[in-house]
Amino acid sequence: MTTDTVTKDENIVWHQHSVDKAFRAKLKQQKPVVLWFTGLSGAGKSTVAGALENKLAEQGYHTYLLDGDNVRHGLCSDLGFSEQDRRENIRRIGELSKLMADAGLIVLSAFISPHRAERQLVREMLPEGEFLEVFVNASLDVCEQRDPKGLYKKARAGEIPNFTGIDSEYEAPLAPEIDLPAGEQPIEVLVEQCVEVLKQKGIIQ
Ligand code: ADX
Repeated sequence: MTTDTVTKDENIVWHQHSVDKAFRAKLKQQKPVVLWFTGLSGAGKSTVAGALENKLAEQGYHTYLLDGDNVRHGLCSDLGFSEQDRRENIRRIGELSKLMADAGLIVLSAFISPHRAERQLVREMLPEGEFLEVFVNASLDVCEQRDPKGLYKKARAGEIPNFTGIDSEYEAPLAPEIDLPAGEQPIEVLVEQCVEVLKQKGIIQ
């Protein structure tokens, strides 16, 4: 074995810095959490997450919103939509969300994240209670009718392979902490539902 292949684990030791998560959270006077928005393209993940972030920021909470379309321009610009690339996409965002929670932030992550296994992987990266799965629950029919970016039309025409809901699977959450009726209710109602759960869980006041 060359030294290159030995380095991982053996020669890398975790360094515990003295300014830690608890200290950073205390400075910000808040409880870090990752709100993980999952759902089909066009369900409203980024819109609901953005409206909720506005509300939290207005109340003085420190937040950060990560969303698929933006992150895929930078950190994940080398990834496409094969099963393998989507897995890697979610793994990276999971690690990034974890770092941001470690920075003491309320993190809002909005990604299709079509597979239960990857969402579970991210849940397991975080301490108990710090990962809240938010199902932005709108049917394929509704999303396809909305088609805000014209992507469903292209996918139906065979111009976008592996499009979620068309020729690539979406596995709905089985027990999300928050289940938003995003096909029926307006944004304000969905945001209010999130706020109520955050209050109940003692994350915000
Ligand atoms: S994920 O499946 O890996 O979680 P992500 O949330 O990062 O997806 O990106 C989804 C966004 O990429 C969609 O909102 C859409 O605008 C765009 N997109 C481009 N190609 C596809 C595709 N094949 N399937 C789904 N979304 C796609």
